[in-house]
Amino acid sequence: MKFLAKTLVGCALCAVSALTSLSLAAPNNAAVVYFTLLHNREGGDSTGVGNTQRVAQAIAAQTNSQLMEIKVAKLYPSDYDETVDIGRDELDANTRPALATDGNPDVASYQDIYLGFPNWWSSYPRAVATWLDGQNMAGKNVYVFMTHGGSRFGDAIADLTEALPQSKIERVIALNDRNCRNMSDEELAEEVADALAELD
Ligand SMILES: Cc1cc2nc3c(=O)[nH]c(=O)nc-3n(C[C@H](O)[C@H](O)[C@H](O)COP(=O)(O)O)c2cc1C
Repeated sequence: MKFLAKTLVGCALCAVSALTSLSLAAPNNAAVVYFTLLHNREGGDSTGVGNTQRVAQAIAAQTNSQLMEIKVAKLYPSDYDETVDIGRDELDANTRPALATDGNPDVASYQDIYLGFPNWWSSYPRAVATWLDGQNMAGKNVYVFMTHGGSRFGDAIADLTEALPQSKIERVIALNDRNCRNMSDEELAEEVADALAELD
């Protein structure tokens, strides 16, 4: 009898621990989608980590989210200043650069999207606009993170709110590009954790 009671208690504990580990292991219904120049320019280091990507990785790790990347079909030039000018032209003309045909994120099955990009002329790169056009973002929560050279979020939140009237847009973090490059992994993780803790 004593043995039976012990076995039953043991089984109950096993079940509780199985459930706990199940819920810990279960992925969030969230995706981290980002764009970074490094992987989208000629001569860019495809294995290197761009500024925005670094933040994206930290967010994905802390929220247990799927990490996904937006990539263009036609790479930007290796010359930075030339790319800055092209970015301006694309924003002015509100163009939609074609995306690479494979691997671009499909977020249909996700409710929460952490969307990250570099500040390009105070807005989001038009490649992100192309990607958004191909997604149904209605009813989703869009948590925005950016890296920048001084303009922080710029007009990007207002622009996204206009582009996605049926989504809930919330800002997460805007990180300066120098900080992004110079921070240790621990420092970056701490910044990201603080920002995530502020979300509604
Ligand atoms: C086309 C282009 C336009 C940019 N415009 C701005 C800007 O208006 N304000 C700003 O603070 N930084 C601007 N930047 C700097 C980037 O936002 C910044 O360096 C960012 O961290 C780059 O991230 P990435 O490495 O993920 O591409 C611009 C960069 C490029 C290439």
